[in-house]
Formats: sequence, C-alpha cells, structure tokens
Amino acid sequence: MSTGPNTFGSFFRIVSFGESHGHSVGVVLDGVRPGLPLDKKVIQKELDRRKPGQSKYTSPRKEPDRVEILSGVFHGLTTGAPICLLVKNTDADPKAYEKTKDIFRPGHADYTFLKKYGIRDWRGGGRASGRETIGRVAAGAVAKQILENRNVTVMGFTKRIGPIEMSSASIARLEKLFNRGDFEGAADLIESSPVRCPDPEASKKMEALISETRTAGDSVGGVVEVRAFGTEAGWGDPVFWKLDAELAAGALSIGGVKGVEFGDGFSVSRKKGSETNDPFLCGEPTTNRAGGVLGGISNGAPIIMRLAVKPTPSIRIPQKTCDIQGKPRVIETKGRHDPCLAPRVTPVAEAMMSLCLAEAALRQDAVSNKKLDPHSARLAFLRGWEDLFSAWKKICCIEKEEMPPTVFSETELKSLAKEHSITADDVKSLQTFLGTFLPSK
Ligand SMILES: Cc1cc2nc3c(=O)[nH]c(=O)nc-3n(C[C@H](O)[C@H](O)[C@H](O)COP(=O)(O)O)c2cc1C
Repeated sequence: MSTGPNTFGSFFRIVSFGESHGHSVGVVLDGVRPGLPLDKKVIQKELDRRKPGQSKYTSPRKEPDRVEILSGVFHGLTTGAPICLLVKNTDADPKAYEKTKDIFRPGHADYTFLKKYGIRDWRGGGRASGRETIGRVAAGAVAKQILENRNVTVMGFTKRIGPIEMSSASIARLEKLFNRGDFEGAADLIESSPVRCPDPEASKKMEALISETRTAGDSVGGVVEVRAFGTEAGWGDPVFWKLDAELAAGALSIGGVKGVEFGDGFSVSRKKGSETNDPFLCGEPTTNRAGGVLGGISNGAPIIMRLAVKPTPSIRIPQKTCDIQGKPRVIETKGRHDPCLAPRVTPVAEAMMSLCLAEAALRQDAVSNKKLDPHSARLAFLRGWEDLFSAWKKICCIEKEEMPPTVFSETELKSLAKEHSITADDVKSLQTFLGTFLPSK
C-alpha cells in the first residue's frame, strides 16, 4: 500500500530519494517503532551485497556505498522518529551521458519519464537507475532485523541465467539446508558464487555465458528466486492487498523485473487440480505448491517467489532509436553497465520481500491485537528510558491486560539483571516501574 510515487508501505513506510549521478541516494523510514537495536554494520553488509564492482560480472562503477544514518537512531536504538539513511554518490560521471541526453535509449525509461514529467534527469537514468535501489536495500536491512526478531529469514539466489538453470540435485541440496534451518550454510553457498547461484557447476557455465555475451556487446536475462522462512499463517489481506499481490508489486517495482510467480507459478496452467492443490493434514499443508500464500494470506509454509529479470537494456550493439526531435538515430551504449542484472537484483528482491513482510506482520499485529516485541521492550526498559518505553507502549496501543505476563517474570528480571550487569535494587525498581502497567505475577 503506497501513498505517493516514491513511497512504499503503510505501517512500515519508506520514501526513496536521490538520482544515480546526483549528490546521493537513500531512504527515509517512517513508522519504525522505538527501541529497535539498529546496527549500521548490518545495513552496510546488505549494501555491500548490492553495490557495483563486486565481481567482473557486475558494473565496474567504483562506489563504496557507505551508509550514513542521519536521524532516528540514538545510542544504537531507533527512537520512533523518521530514520534517514543516506549514501553519497562518489563515482558519478554525468559527462558520460551528455552525448546521449537527447536520445531515447531502447529498453530504458527515457521516453516515458519525459512524457510523464516534461523534464528528465538524463544523468545515468536519474531516478530510473538501478542505483535507486540502494534506499530499498538499506530499508530492507531494517525490515530484515524486524523479521529476524520474529524468526523470519528471507533469502534469495540466482536460479537461471539465459538458458542455464540450477540442477534439481542442487536445488534439493539447498532445500536440505533450508529445512535444517542452516541459513548461514545456505547463504555461504549462495554468496560463494560470483553470480549468486548455489550450484557450482551451473554457476561456472553462467559466468562463462555472461563473459561471452558481454564480449559480444550484448546482455542476458535471468530468474531470481526469493524465499521467506518462518512466516506465521495470517499475514496479508483477503481482497485488494493480498500478500502475493503486494509481494508482486514490490518485486515488479524493481527496475528490469518483468514477471513474478509464486510456488508452482505459471506451470499450474498446464496442470490438473489434483497436481496443484496442497493436501492438508491436520491443518498443516504437506506440500508447498502454492508458495506459502492462499487467498492472499500466508499459510505458514515458506513463501516462494520467482522474478523474471530482463537483459540489461544498455548494450554496445548498435540499436535503432530516435531523438527528442523525432529524428532517427543509432545508439551504441558505452559506459559502466551490468552485463546481467540477476545477481545484483537478488539482494534488492530480498529487500522488497522483507519490506512487504514487515508491513504485513505489523498489520496483522493490529488485527490480532497481539502486541509486544519483548526484545525492544527489555532494551528500552533496561536503559531506563521510561518515556521512550511509554511512548512505544502508546504507539503499539498496549492495554494493561494485553501485555503478556510471561515477558517480565521475577526470574526473568533476575536473569536480565545478570545479563545486563545491574544490581538487585535496580531489579526492584524495574519491577516497580513495570508494576505501573503490568499485571503482577
Ligand atoms: C541493481 C540494478 C542494477 C541495474 N543496472 C543497470 C545497468 O548497469 N545498465 C542498465 O542499462 N540498466 C540497469 N538496470 C535496469 C534499469 O534500471 C531498468 O531496466 C530501466 O530503468 C528500465 O526499467 P524497466 O526495465 O523496469 O522497464 C539495473 C537495475 C537494477 C535493479
């Protein structure tokens, strides 16, 4: 659910800003509740996975993509104020685009932006550049942290590049790691491939294909798969804002993504009902052909989404086009481009899925009246930020009775005291403070 052309989300709202060759790019997050530990290193790690120049298969633009947290975080915790995350453009080269500023590049948004706004930032695609996704990845890292607190893990990988696809044996190997909950092992396998394909043999072939295609001045498409593990049943809405509809909107908002499918996806059009339904055994689905969503609502099984990514539009092969005066022209796009977008789309797709799921989880909290992230509560409380804690309580609409009494039992307070090196007296005053709005045990 969005309220503006650069805004995504409602409960967990982000506004993306910046142009590819302008001063900076970034995001403002509005609605992140106070007390969430926000580690800059975690955001940076995600940005490093997205940045150009990671391997010879990505754009050679040299950008460190260092994130700066401009607001909304105090002593490592979110304060409830808008969080502004900014990344400066340090290797911008607008001159490289001067020659083509009056020419519509095929496959790019030059023509449509000009038609829409009557003015266009031609420096590297401006807002339509892949660089705009920095804000999404930074915000997605925050969403990932929120989801991790709920034991939800989101992970993506490259499944296909051109005609080269992961083997079914390697998919089974990856799924074994997922099923064991070994997400670190799965991530290592994915990230050890320069194209993010967790099938070493297929990865080598993909790398060779990308190199060949680039040498020929062309580019190649691919398929990215993203999965979410640990989602509860009940996220998403039943009519217009179905979870799969929102996830698809998020995925299709990424430049170069042209198709989305869930679970068995488009293949269901060739199947029978008996081959498509997931049988229920005592409420638990046994297979996951639906990809984790039924009737627009998560069913508790892993969410499986695939994105069709088009070949990079900027290619060196001469292409016919026209200029803004309508004169025929021929364009050969030189400069720094990704020969295949799929490996770089992977962390962006994870970010968009995380943003959608954080939004859906918070919305479901409002519906189910279940509230409280004990981790945030403890931290805000233990640091003695009574105001912050009360504000947070107000934001979350926690009534006295709704606070789960198990969260702050006497024993737990004692172990918290030990864990955070505070005295027994502190524990007593904490207990008194809590007593102002917690049911006594
Ligand atoms: C992470 C990322 C990097 C991208 N890098 C390039 C690039 O180097 N060259 C290019 O021509 N397009 C690149 N794109 C794709 C274009 O931004 C996109 O195709 C273009 O704006 C047109 O939008 P559409 O393909 O969604 O219609 C990239 C997209 C993403 C998400």
